[in-house]
Amino acid sequence: MNQDYIVPDNWSIIEEGFDAERVKSSESLFSIGNGAMGQRANFEENYSAETFQGSYIAGIYYPDKTKVGWWKNGYPEYFAKVLNAPNWIGIAIEINGEAFDLNTCKEVRDFKRELNMKEGWYHRSFTAVLKNGVEILVDIRRFLSLNEDELGVIQYEITPINQEATIVYHPYIDAGVKNEDANWEEKFWEALEVEHSGNEAFVVARTYKTHFNVATFMHNSIFSNGKNLGLAPENTVAGTDKVTFTYSVQVAKGEKSAIQKFGGYTVSLNHENEELISAARNVIATAVAKGYETLLQEQVAAWAKIWEMSDITIDGDVKAQQGIRFNIFQLNQTYLGKDSRLNIGPKGFTGEKYGGSTYWDTEAYCIPFYMATKDQQVARNLLTYRYNQLDKAIENATKLGFKDGAALYPMVTMNGEECHNEWEITFEEIHRNGAIAFAIFNYYRFTGDYSYIPEKGLEVLVAIARFWQQRATYSTDKNQYVILGVTGPNEYENNVNNNFYTNYLAKWCIDYTVEQLKKVALEYPSDHKRITEKANITEAELQLWRKVADNMYLPYSEAHDVYLQQDGFLDKDLVKVADLDKSQRPINQKWSWDRILRSPYIKQADVLQGFYFFEDHFSKAELEKHFDFYEPFTVHESSLSPCVHSIQASALGRMEQAYTFYLRTSRLDLDDYNKEVEEGCHITSMAGTWMSIVEGFGGMRVKNDALHFEPRIPEQWEGYSFKINFRNQILQVFVAANETRFTLEGTQELTVFVNGEAITVTPNAEVTV
Ligand code: BGC
Repeated sequence: MNQDYIVPDNWSIIEEGFDAERVKSSESLFSIGNGAMGQRANFEENYSAETFQGSYIAGIYYPDKTKVGWWKNGYPEYFAKVLNAPNWIGIAIEINGEAFDLNTCKEVRDFKRELNMKEGWYHRSFTAVLKNGVEILVDIRRFLSLNEDELGVIQYEITPINQEATIVYHPYIDAGVKNEDANWEEKFWEALEVEHSGNEAFVVARTYKTHFNVATFMHNSIFSNGKNLGLAPENTVAGTDKVTFTYSVQVAKGEKSAIQKFGGYTVSLNHENEELISAARNVIATAVAKGYETLLQEQVAAWAKIWEMSDITIDGDVKAQQGIRFNIFQLNQTYLGKDSRLNIGPKGFTGEKYGGSTYWDTEAYCIPFYMATKDQQVARNLLTYRYNQLDKAIENATKLGFKDGAALYPMVTMNGEECHNEWEITFEEIHRNGAIAFAIFNYYRFTGDYSYIPEKGLEVLVAIARFWQQRATYSTDKNQYVILGVTGPNEYENNVNNNFYTNYLAKWCIDYTVEQLKKVALEYPSDHKRITEKANITEAELQLWRKVADNMYLPYSEAHDVYLQQDGFLDKDLVKVADLDKSQRPINQKWSWDRILRSPYIKQADVLQGFYFFEDHFSKAELEKHFDFYEPFTVHESSLSPCVHSIQASALGRMEQAYTFYLRTSRLDLDDYNKEVEEGCHITSMAGTWMSIVEGFGGMRVKNDALHFEPRIPEQWEGYSFKINFRNQILQVFVAANETRFTLEGTQELTVFVNGEAITVTPNAEVTV
């Protein structure tokens, strides 16, 4: 743990006291989003000390020209970047002629931030004494509306407390923004048009290269003691990419002055270019008609609906409770599943790292959360996203030398094209292809909706199976198929041969695809015909696939009785993490890359990721042996690591260890375990936190179309509960030390299994086991 300033609370993230050193971390932790856009918790007023400005719009990105040392054939031309979008929150403030800036105030007292997760708003309050002696009480609330998802709302209140003051508000919108991580210091936005009238203003800007057009807008009203003064701006400065209004008010001592600012974006993903401003005018008209209070009430109600389905309660452990709610809240701020063009970036809307792009994280970690806490259409949308990018994945594989419709999905993507440009990841971390196939299997296993496979999934599976067959090499020495030169989930070793996880997954993908081809041939013959004709699958090719799958080499150590992470794993100097000096951690910040690559240290679950996906292929004793062999070398320096280990520790009944991993995954950002939260929060691993409760402690699995549980509870907790949308019925599970209770919202009985024993749950009647 690196920081400990977040005040424990069941429903809110709270910071007390102003500390400039924490500003960037808090900007990440207090981020807000509504699925369509999101932003770091930057101050509205000017701030002259260190800050990391960020506001992001879902689906809007920039292809930043690749910058590498030596160009390698097959590299993508660009690295997609989520764009720091134009600023609509800015309100520069002067008080008696002095620019108000928390960095230059004489004193800041009672500073408090609150991110109210239950109701979906961010609040900041403090008392400040300016250099000119004016003392003000400031109270600001901001939210991004879930109902009107192009709209953000700010209420900024100032009360002078020791004297009367002249307050000048300069609300602005500004498209002159930059990305911190631009490769070539280029600007990503070109301003096209600026317009203003009355209290509203618009800046239309276009991204270079990708040509997304965005209208950033604002509308302002000035209040005194809650009454709208109906002021018009007394001055307007309109530049090429920025509009600033000026309102000045004389405010008596103790009088509450306020500015309400409605702002946000309309984007060409959803509107015609020429209609962006009129669409923005409509958003403003709706917001003005509803007014701040109604918008806030709607926000509270919309979040109540989300929580109704996705909340997890934990009794007797506030930090654990705060952790899981923070994770669920951030996931919902990032992706709500309304739009199949969108996906879940590892940092969501909280920072620039990872470019806001789609990783295997979505399939391997996020889908279970969305499947169980939302309508099944949401998970289907996530699968469809990959289906829609199949042609690009085939193009990507072709570029690398594969043929006949083999697909390699990108490691990182915005639009289906690969946009990561480190060779060891782009070319070698091919296991992501398997996760995409696994998600199709997992979706059907959980939802029972087979229709996805004949409609879309099978085409994806075929193209992936083809890739694996072509990627495998026949080794005459082994008389088996090997997969050479890969990077497994453990990115701390590259270009290894026969990564167990990759080989196992490749074999499984082929087997599963062959099985689905048979099933679709029988049950959906016309789809089968369409797909096999389109993909031109021949019996000869299927035989090749089977040959590879049936003869896949899996590295194994007789001496240790475990599958080997890769051929050369045992050649390493096998010093356990526990024997490594603490000062050397995290190794990715302390050691050279060369030293890391030669070390036995494992960044995240690798062999164990395979045991997680395919748990039912192995016995508990095998899981235990592999867990005991690999976990001691694991440094958990990927946010995706602790959750898988927590689930497996639970399955092995090691509750203390499971709990430690749980805290680490759920409070990774709140307590900044990896010393990097200022760059943004780890959104995709938050779904792993959810899994570590539901699949870990709750032991939930789906087997043969039924839910199974093996409930356990950490001794630090009195009880916990979660809900599962299982095939359109909502099952709520309460776990306490000595009992598990179930209730069901739905119309039909549901049989679930608890520690292997069948239990029938009837709608609206609690069952206790
Ligand atoms: C992990 C990858 C992951 C990426 C984005 C990396 O640190 O090693 O597995 O896909 O982060 O979350």
